[in-house]
Amino acid sequence: MKTHEKITLPQLSIGGKKLLFPLLLGPMGVGVSLAKLVSAVAREGGGGILSVVALKEIWSQKLSYRVTTYEAVCFEIASARALCPKGVIGLNVMVAVQKDYEDSIRAGVDMKIDFISIGAGLIGNLPIIDHPHKTAIAVIVSSAKAANIVLYRFEKNKWRDLGYDLAALIVEGPKAGGHLGFSIDQLDKPEFQLEIILPEIKKIALDNGNIPVIAAGGIYTRDDIIKMISLGADGVQMATRFLVTEESDANSAYKLAIINATKPEDIIVSSGSPCGLPFRVVISSPMYQTHLRAGRVPRCDKGYLLRKDADGNFTICGAKHDNEKFFCICNGLLSSVGYNSNPQEEDLYTAGANAYRITEITTVKKIMDELKGK
Ligand SMILES: Cc1cc2nc3c(=O)[nH]c(=O)nc-3n(C[C@H](O)[C@H](O)[C@H](O)COP(=O)(O)O)c2cc1C
Repeated sequence: MKTHEKITLPQLSIGGKKLLFPLLLGPMGVGVSLAKLVSAVAREGGGGILSVVALKEIWSQKLSYRVTTYEAVCFEIASARALCPKGVIGLNVMVAVQKDYEDSIRAGVDMKIDFISIGAGLIGNLPIIDHPHKTAIAVIVSSAKAANIVLYRFEKNKWRDLGYDLAALIVEGPKAGGHLGFSIDQLDKPEFQLEIILPEIKKIALDNGNIPVIAAGGIYTRDDIIKMISLGADGVQMATRFLVTEESDANSAYKLAIINATKPEDIIVSSGSPCGLPFRVVISSPMYQTHLRAGRVPRCDKGYLLRKDADGNFTICGAKHDNEKFFCICNGLLSSVGYNSNPQEEDLYTAGANAYRITEITTVKKIMDELKGK
């Protein structure tokens, strides 16, 4: 037996709700972590996080009539709740996806979601909503500096008085999937690794009322979980491990591309996301390959993502961006879950650095049993 297997895993509560196992399913947008996957993790005692990006497109196609973002987010929460009435269910909003941001938070508050996680950019504002109850907020950070800024903004903006509670800091390291909170040259440097930034942020959390700290990025096995707990984490967040499951909404080509990625080099970090954050992609993704050849006619008909211009200002991505620098992340990710209204748009696959270790399609229960040490 490995020595650290004797460690008792901590009790993690978020938004006042106790998890039976201290694991959150990381949100996977666009459309991968939806009701089916989220409720499956919640049923196994973890906490599931719904991705809300572009849910309006997804539900408008499901129902064959146009719905608003607010309605779509309410529908998805209701679907997850119906599949797992008692489990812990959160939703994720991204600062870089301003188009969905406020309406998604409103829907979460109105539907009494257990918590809202905020990532892909530092929390900038929280809408003024008449809360009949407290809403738990978990903020994704990748440095001690960012954690301090979050704490400062919570104080300065008196968000607690507006009904929001800072319920957790999710510390995401450089091995995560999706957008990364680092510059490309920081990614491999020792001082930016999860094992280093986690204890730094834990100290800040302890000094500020012992806010739970959740470690994310590259966590794959039970031993990894135990290691993070021993470094001070109160729980972990895992996404990639659940991407190739029966319950995941990734399309079959996406799952196959991950299974066929067998070496670390098959998953790379690209600077092609228009919002300016590094973005991890599976190298075989059809849209990424076309991007390398500058083969896609520039077109932006979804407009979810904010784009950073040469002066560092953000605008809506816009129609005329050049293909040499960027790929169209909204269209690529929507295609990868089968919900692009334009079937011509190619798939774009994102995954964490450890995705090359995945060899087959499995189930949430099998993964959770393994992680629980059963
Ligand atoms: C396919 C995929 C999509 C993701 N989409 C989002 C997202 O929409 N919002 C977000 O905050 N994080 C997103 N992430 C990051 C994860 O939620 C998670 O924190 C991170 O990937 C954890 O590392 P792991 O994948 O190695 O477990 C995504 C990750 C993956 C793999």
